[in-house]
Amino acid sequence: MPLSSLSSSMFLKVINVALATILATALSFSRNVQADFVKPAVIDAPLLTEKIATNNTILVDINGEGDYRSIQEAIDAVPENNSKWVIIHIRKGVYREKVHIPCNKPHIFMRGNGKGRTAIIWSMSSTDNKESATFTSESPHLVVFGISFKNEAPTGEAFTSQNQSVAAFVGADMISFYHCAFYSTHNTLFDYKGRHYYHHCYIQGSIDFIFGRARTIFHQCEIFVIIDMRVKILGSITAHNRESDNDSGFVFVEGRVYGVGHVYLGRAKGAYSRTIFAKTYLSNAIAPQGWTSWSYLGGTKNIFQAEYKCHGPGAFTFNRADWAKQLTDEEAERFMSIDFIDGKEWLPAWM
Ligand SMILES: *[C@@H]1O[C@H](CO)[C@@H](O)[C@H](O)[C@H]1NC(C)=O
Ligand SMILES: *[C@@H]1O[C@H](CO)[C@@H](O)[C@H](O)[C@H]1NC(C)=O
Ligand SMILES: *[C@@H]1O[C@H](CO)[C@@H](O)[C@H](O)[C@H]1NC(C)=O
Ligand SMILES: *[C@@H]1O[C@H](CO)[C@@H](O)[C@H](O)[C@H]1NC(C)=O
Repeated sequence: MPLSSLSSSMFLKVINVALATILATALSFSRNVQADFVKPAVIDAPLLTEKIATNNTILVDINGEGDYRSIQEAIDAVPENNSKWVIIHIRKGVYREKVHIPCNKPHIFMRGNGKGRTAIIWSMSSTDNKESATFTSESPHLVVFGISFKNEAPTGEAFTSQNQSVAAFVGADMISFYHCAFYSTHNTLFDYKGRHYYHHCYIQGSIDFIFGRARTIFHQCEIFVIIDMRVKILGSITAHNRESDNDSGFVFVEGRVYGVGHVYLGRAKGAYSRTIFAKTYLSNAIAPQGWTSWSYLGGTKNIFQAEYKCHGPGAFTFNRADWAKQLTDEEAERFMSIDFIDGKEWLPAWM
């Protein structure tokens, strides 16, 4: 190697070391709030099974080699007001049925074989979101692992009132989903009420596809945007509904948002609608304005639509709606904690 190039590469090294030192010093002054959601870092079926610790298992096998062929039959077999955890293991296969967990069947762990392998699929559009849902859960203490939920109605029935097509309705407290997927177009995930945790899930849709009044953390979820040819308005990923200053809200942390077409991060339903995207990759699928107050026809003063340290081409903030917030470290801290949903009290991974 010629002497001149050696010395210039050494020079570059010196510069690099100097830059790294400056950067490290700069970083040590910024607090950069870290999410404290997962302990341990990987939550899989063996871990959840170990935490839930029960010998009570019902096997569902679509080929007839289990206790039941249908998931609903297994749920029906769980005793009323059930107080001990029951595992419903669902072997791989496409289960074409509507599945309903009524409000007197708590402590169920639905364990699939992976979201590409165990799927629950139905096709229904309705004027009523809940009625259209492929999967409905109205009992608390539900854990779901490795299942895909799909409503394959063709975008509801366009230009009729039968245009809601929900994949899952989550309508009770203390419900968590791990490595699951939710597919529909319009109104995919009805996150109705209670405290919920979604970890490593995939959620797809075009308009208001994550909506409801719940208090929820979406951790490391993948949000895939598809276009809806029926409408001229831009769709929106979320439509959180909060009518007063209560503790509900949707928090997305460390996920990825991308896809086809343009959407808002959120549309406010209710004067106090609250949605936060933190440390999330946002692609060009996000409209520069970021957020909309449509169809809430009041002031925007109490709407809480916020971002914290997002990145990617959709994260530029100069054209954002003027009420949208960029949170400081202090403001972000409470949303970056599992305490936002009191997770240490009820999530199996923290037991
Ligand atoms: C499950 O069954 C095994 C063997 O009968 C027993 O040792 C264990 O304690 C049981 N576990 C629970 C959580 O009931
Ligand atoms: C379940 O609980 C409800 C409400 O407490 C009660 O009315 C019902 O009788 C219980 N069912 C059984 C089978 O214990
Ligand atoms: C959906 O149904 C409502 C009536 O319930 C109607 O006002 C609206 O235009 C419909 N939307 C589409 C896209 O068909
Ligand atoms: C929060 O507000 C929503 C919408 O106003 C309401 O439906 C929900 O019940 C409230 N939640 C709590 C926990 O008070």
